[in-house]
Amino acid sequence: MRVPIVAANWKMNKTVGEAESFTADLPGDAELYKKVEVVVCTPFTCLQAVSKGLEGTGVKLGAQNMYYEDKGAYTGEISPAMLKDLGCTYVILGHSERRHIFQESNELINKKVKAALVHGLKPILCIGETLEERQAGKMEEICKTQIFGSLQDITAKEMDQIVIAYEPVWAIGTGVNASVEDADSTITFVRQCISAKYGTEIGDKIRIQYGGSVKPNNAVDYFKQANIDGALIGGASLKADSFYSIVKSAAEVCGC
Ligand code: 13P
Repeated sequence: MRVPIVAANWKMNKTVGEAESFTADLPGDAELYKKVEVVVCTPFTCLQAVSKGLEGTGVKLGAQNMYYEDKGAYTGEISPAMLKDLGCTYVILGHSERRHIFQESNELINKKVKAALVHGLKPILCIGETLEERQAGKMEEICKTQIFGSLQDITAKEMDQIVIAYEPVWAIGTGVNASVEDADSTITFVRQCISAKYGTEIGDKIRIQYGGSVKPNNAVDYFKQANIDGALIGGASLKADSFYSIVKSAAEVCGC
């Protein structure tokens, strides 16, 4: 039985003061946060404040990106050790906005995945096709290339630490969420790819989230799918009440 994981991705939103208001507004619900793993991925600038605000709640902290080197002359970059130092458990890697706006390649993402693991950070590895790629029937090929490219040389043992988020690019921030059937069939395909490379034990164990216009009114439909293990949430994670309501529906559906 896989524990669902619901993660907030605030992207480039919130000042420190706004982040503090979020943690103050997020209901303390230790029982719920044991049943559903909950992560809040904030901008670098809010990590310290949110780390403090989440102390003792059972909700975990994550970052949205990092560089793969330990330290040195990399102006503007943040290292895995710096994230660990601030209390991060997770780091989102390979988000489509990083892939498309900042031209991150699978090769670069792979280096980041490896560095995160070395430093004890758990990657939430994002994959997903653009609308053009979907319309050209290349969805599976793209997802497969992204998975295997980003996970090159990652061992079966290390796969324990990794969560995958399937986020079709056309569904992100558009209000056009993928149909439950489409999300489910692609996530099933992703699980098959993992099983093919690492064996069914690992394929069955790995958690795969859906992301893309998940809201309190549609989250439950995704969570009902046996292969979908939670969600990565952008817009609806900016307010504590809508984020909390999505977390609650994950617990209700999984019956845990
Ligand atoms: P939205 O929920 O705003 O569509 O964003 C999804 C996303 O990109 C999460 O990483």
